[in-house]
Amino acid sequence: MTAQLDSFYPTRVDFGTLDEIHRAAATALLPDVLDFIEGGAGKEITLRANLAAFEHWRILPEPMSGVGAPSTRTELLGLELAVPILTAPFGGDGLYHADGHLAVARAAQRHGALSIVPEAGTYSYERVHAAAPRAARIAQVHPFGHAAAVAEHVAHNGFDALCVTVDCPVGGFRTRNMGNRFDPDQRYFAGNLTGENGAPGVAEVFGQLLKRGGAVWNWNQLAAAATDFGLPWIAKGILTPAAAERALDIGASALVVSNHGGRQTDPAPASLEMLPRVRAAAGPDVPILLDSGVRTGSDIYLALALGADAVIIGRAAIYGLAAAGESGVDRVFELLTEELRTLMILSGAATIGDIDGARITEAAR
Ligand SMILES: Cc1cc2nc3c(=O)[nH]c(=O)nc-3n(C[C@H](O)[C@H](O)[C@H](O)COP(=O)(O)O)c2cc1C
Repeated sequence: MTAQLDSFYPTRVDFGTLDEIHRAAATALLPDVLDFIEGGAGKEITLRANLAAFEHWRILPEPMSGVGAPSTRTELLGLELAVPILTAPFGGDGLYHADGHLAVARAAQRHGALSIVPEAGTYSYERVHAAAPRAARIAQVHPFGHAAAVAEHVAHNGFDALCVTVDCPVGGFRTRNMGNRFDPDQRYFAGNLTGENGAPGVAEVFGQLLKRGGAVWNWNQLAAAATDFGLPWIAKGILTPAAAERALDIGASALVVSNHGGRQTDPAPASLEMLPRVRAAAGPDVPILLDSGVRTGSDIYLALALGADAVIIGRAAIYGLAAAGESGVDRVFELLTEELRTLMILSGAATIGDIDGARITEAAR
C-alpha cells in the first residue's frame, strides 16, 4: 500500500526540520502575504503568548517503560484519526500556493488525519472533498444568515460535521495588514462565497468582516440555526468556561479552544493557558481540540496532556503549503508525527489516551 502511494507522490522534498520549512515559506511568499499569514491583531501580544505558553511545561521522561511502538491513533466524533492532528480552516489558500486546500487535504489524507475545509477558501467545499474524501470531512462556516443552508449543502456533499467559527463576527484589528494596505484579490476567498444558489457573495462576507460590527449573531440565533444543521457541529473559538458552557448548552458536539491564532482579540489569553479551565467546565467526555501556536510534536504532546483530544494546525500547515505544496504539508505531518512518537516512547505513553497531566510538570518560573 505504501509503495503504491509513494509512486503517486508529487515532488519529493527534503526539508530536515520544521524551521527549514518555515524559512522556505517565508522566502516563497510575497511580503504582504507573509505578513497576512504571520500577523496577529493589535500589539500581537496573544500571537506571542500562544507560542510562549508551551514553554511553561515540561514532559517527564519515563526510563525503562518498555514502550517501543506507541500508537498515535485516536477518534473524533466517530471519525478515525491515525494522528491527533487536523488542519485548520484558513481562507485565501490559493494565495499561498496554487493548490491550496486541495494539497492540504491530500497531505492530511495520506497521514490519516482530517482537514477542516474553510468557507472563505479558494476552492469549494466539494472540490476539496473530491480531492481527499477521507480527510476533507468537516466544513467550516461563519455564523451569518446562511449557516443552515451551508450545513445542508455540505451534508449532501459528503461532509460529516460542521465547524462554526464563533470568534470572528468581525475581523480582528490586524495591524500588519493595515500597515501594508493589504488588499488581496477577493477571488482567492470565493470558493464557496459565489453569490449563487443562495450563497452569499465574497464581497458581502468581506463587507461584514471588515465593517466592524453590524449583523452579529448571538447564541440564541446560533441555537435557532443549529436546529436545522442536521450534522454534528463543532464550536471553534472557545476560550472561556462560560463560552464552552453556552456552546454545549445549544448543542455543540465538540469545542475548539482557540484564539484564532492571535488574530482576533488582542491581548487575549493563550489557548493553551485556558485549555485546562475549558476542559474542567466541559467535563471529561466532550471532545476538545486546541489550536493557536501548535508548531512542534512537543506542542501536540503538551496540548493532549493538558486536556485536548487532538490539535489543529494553522500556520504550521500553511508553511508546508507555501514551501512546497502538497509535499511540503506532507513533510510537516511527518515531522510532527515523528517527534510526537519519539516523545511517547521517551515518556512511556503507549497510546494517545496515556498522555495525561501526570506526564508533565510546570516549569519553574
Ligand atoms: C492566513 C490565515 C487565515 C485564516 N482564515 C480563517 C478562516 O477563514 N476561518 C477560520 O475559522 N479561521 C481562520 N484562521 C484561523 C485558523 O483556523 C486557526 O484558528 C489558527 O491559524 C490557529 O493558530 P496557528 O496558526 O498558530 O496554528 C486563519 C488563520 C490564518 C493564519
